[in-house]
Amino acid sequence: LRRSAKEKAASSRWWIRGFSAEAAPERKVTILGAAGGIGQPLSLLMKLNPLVSSLSLYDIAATPGVAADVGHINTRSENFLSADDFGVKGYVGEEQIKEALEGSDVVIIPAGVPRKPGMTRDDLFTINAGIVKSLIEAVAKFSPKALINMISNPVNSTVPIAAEVLKSNGVYDEKRLLGVTTLDVVRAKTFYAGKANANVADVKVPVVGGHAGITILPLFSQANPKANLSHDVLHALTKRTQDGGTEVVEAKAGKGSATLSMAYAGALFADACLKGLNGVPDVVECAFVQSNITELPFFASKVRLGKNGIEEVLGLGDLSDYEQQGLESLKSELKSSIDKGISFVHKA
Ligand code: NAD
Ligand code: LMR
Repeated sequence: LRRSAKEKAASSRWWIRGFSAEAAPERKVTILGAAGGIGQPLSLLMKLNPLVSSLSLYDIAATPGVAADVGHINTRSENFLSADDFGVKGYVGEEQIKEALEGSDVVIIPAGVPRKPGMTRDDLFTINAGIVKSLIEAVAKFSPKALINMISNPVNSTVPIAAEVLKSNGVYDEKRLLGVTTLDVVRAKTFYAGKANANVADVKVPVVGGHAGITILPLFSQANPKANLSHDVLHALTKRTQDGGTEVVEAKAGKGSATLSMAYAGALFADACLKGLNGVPDVVECAFVQSNITELPFFASKVRLGKNGIEEVLGLGDLSDYEQQGLESLKSELKSSIDKGISFVHKA
């Protein structure tokens, strides 16, 4: 029995928040690194998103299995299915990356190695810089107009690497390259809600700067709903947000880093990008992007998403003295991570 259009729209409303699935255009989302710890649950969540009509899952191994599994889920792409791929297709290895990428609206990249206890995100640079460089070369060739959602760490360097590779290929558009820092926002909201005794679903907290240690700067002075928290509590909340990734790495004790919360955060961010592309007004998320709101060439702040990707990079607003200090202290580390990414591309 086919459901009516009204029933379908109602059942998907929790996810699309007021945007009718029936009005949504066809959108292809590609995940590079789709068979990994983040990639698999992210593939599931993107299959549940009614804004996605075609899901392309690429990795160096195992994607046919992930695609077959996820493809059996009877969500929106049923409207777009062909007889054999149910709107989801797995691609393996470099010879299939062209087909995986062609026609993509959004390319999400969680390919690369995760941390083990005792490592910093920058310790991943040696392996992940090369992976990101080669994947972005392919994006430049086969889907140069796609919005790129960069998850692979160290984000503070992989986004500048991607920008340089896209520039070398003559296809860089700063509106279309976004480093995913949504997990920092997700964590800041969760931790703040606990201390502020607020309903976590209502909490808003911008997180700016970058995505590693002290470069992650939550702006609790701008949190909503307001709460009268002491300096010590705000300091502890800031530290916990900055160390959230390490907290998970240590709890997983050698079995990787955040995957499930990251898949959730990545799915929220990709959903926001799709809404922007589809013309939904006032879609604002934090992301690590090319920026001139500080002297650094890349910086995470709120951005307004629209039909061409980033419509506007929003300013920082008023900062408390504590946040202003945090901002000054993060700049040198963030600058050297950015510079390291840029020079990697030019000396490679
Ligand atoms: P994982 O090892 O479980 O999965 C990585 C996947 O990437 C694997 O399936 C692997 O085969 C694939 N891969 C490796 N080289 C590839 C290539 N050249 N092309 C395509 N796929 C390739 O790791 P994970 O836990 O999913 O984490 C992935 C990355 O995401 C790590 O760098 C991690 O640090 C990062 N991460 C970022 C955030 C964030 O907030 N931005 C959060 C969590 C993790
Ligand atoms: C995170 O914030 O969880 C990720 O960047 C993964 C990590 O290494 O901490």
